[in-house]
Amino acid sequence: MVTDATRREPIETASRDQIAALQLARLQKTLAWAYDRVPHYRAKFETAGVHPDDLRELADLARFPFTAKQDLRDTYPYGMFAVPLDDVVRIHASSGTTGKPTVVGYTQNDIDNWAGIMARSLRAAGASRSDIVHVTHGYGLFTGGLGVHYGAERLGCTVVPISGGQTERQAQLIRDFKATMIVGTPSYVLNIVDEMERLGIDPRSTSLRRGMFGAEPWGEQMRTELQDRLGIAAMDLYGLSEVIGPGVAAECIEARDGPVIWEDHFYPEIIDPDTGKVLPDGEPGELVFTSLTKEALPVVRYRTRDLTRLLPPTSRSMRRIGKITGRSDDMLIIRGVNVFPSQIEEQILKVPKLSAHYLLEVSRDGHLDELDVLVEMKPDVVSEADREAAAHELQHHIKSFIGISTRVRIQHHGAIERSQGKARRVIDRRPR
Ligand code: DLL
Repeated sequence: MVTDATRREPIETASRDQIAALQLARLQKTLAWAYDRVPHYRAKFETAGVHPDDLRELADLARFPFTAKQDLRDTYPYGMFAVPLDDVVRIHASSGTTGKPTVVGYTQNDIDNWAGIMARSLRAAGASRSDIVHVTHGYGLFTGGLGVHYGAERLGCTVVPISGGQTERQAQLIRDFKATMIVGTPSYVLNIVDEMERLGIDPRSTSLRRGMFGAEPWGEQMRTELQDRLGIAAMDLYGLSEVIGPGVAAECIEARDGPVIWEDHFYPEIIDPDTGKVLPDGEPGELVFTSLTKEALPVVRYRTRDLTRLLPPTSRSMRRIGKITGRSDDMLIIRGVNVFPSQIEEQILKVPKLSAHYLLEVSRDGHLDELDVLVEMKPDVVSEADREAAAHELQHHIKSFIGISTRVRIQHHGAIERSQGKARRVIDRRPR
């Protein structure tokens, strides 16, 4: 029986040839659109000696120049827009911890497309119009809240637009409003789970059945933690503001084997981050996207800095991304060893008495880098012997799996600052 949740758009099950033909036609249109309307793109194409007409097959894209966050900064705020502001109906922006924020814009068509793609993502995660969707992503300049919101409405779900914060109230409203699906960052949702426990609400007893988690890296151990503690199926939702926001790729509930890239709207490549060379599917490298349908802010070969792999199609005709192992700019080099916070997280979650609340502190003692891992015990663990054993176990795992010596500092429950959105995992105190 075809129900809301099992319905597919034809393109989701199209042949690879059909998808490639659509991509080629849309790429040609996007390159011309960017070249004709954005002087910054025209200048970059000319410097690289390419013209939109040079794209005759998909592989020709490799001849075109990359776009980076810096391009958006250099043209702040609206210089990369391909339409007059009169046609822009929405602005979002990244917080920009350093320098200017990056500003992104949408035409009415862009907003409609995004709602459609996000609705498709929610449907892939098992949602239908019967769902009550509790959206904990921030509403505002961040794309998370409004992006998910429009998609959930498009699908016909009942949306609870609670945004981030007021964690105690969130825990109560999930119970009272009988939410069946929760969407947020994994770190913030865990924060709500802790709050439920503090209030005496059994997190497994609520009506929640499914969750979509994204906006920050998370691994299989975190999936197990979320699924077990909430009694839900946990799916991955990927996206970035420059490319559109949430919904660039989303995981299907039946496979849960990595987010499916909606390749009819976003053309992916994996490149070697050092040389810029395009790598074959399956090889690890940096993810790059070209938008295929965007009007206000077309992006050509946008370097995401996210490190992952392209995986073959499984439950849909489109390729998937593997887990994001980290961002190239999040990588810590500790005494010469490359370490991503996600690798440490994986080791933490292997120790049953430790919680998923952690912070990495990097410092330098003379010429030597030091890494301190601050991590909280689970709330029910109180004995000093347990604390010491857990610290020892974690130190040992990190040494044997990652190859670096660390200082593990066990913290009391609640000592590590809780995020209301993306968790801050690293404080780097080394002199620049
Ligand atoms: O975080 C968009 C989003 C909102 C995605 C809600 C999913 C859910 P930005 O603030 O521009 O946009 O941050 C984009 O966040 O380049 C990744 O480094 C990281 N990221 C996003 N989703 C995931 C994910 C939104 N599922 C940056 N896994 C991206 C790992 C993710 N990292």
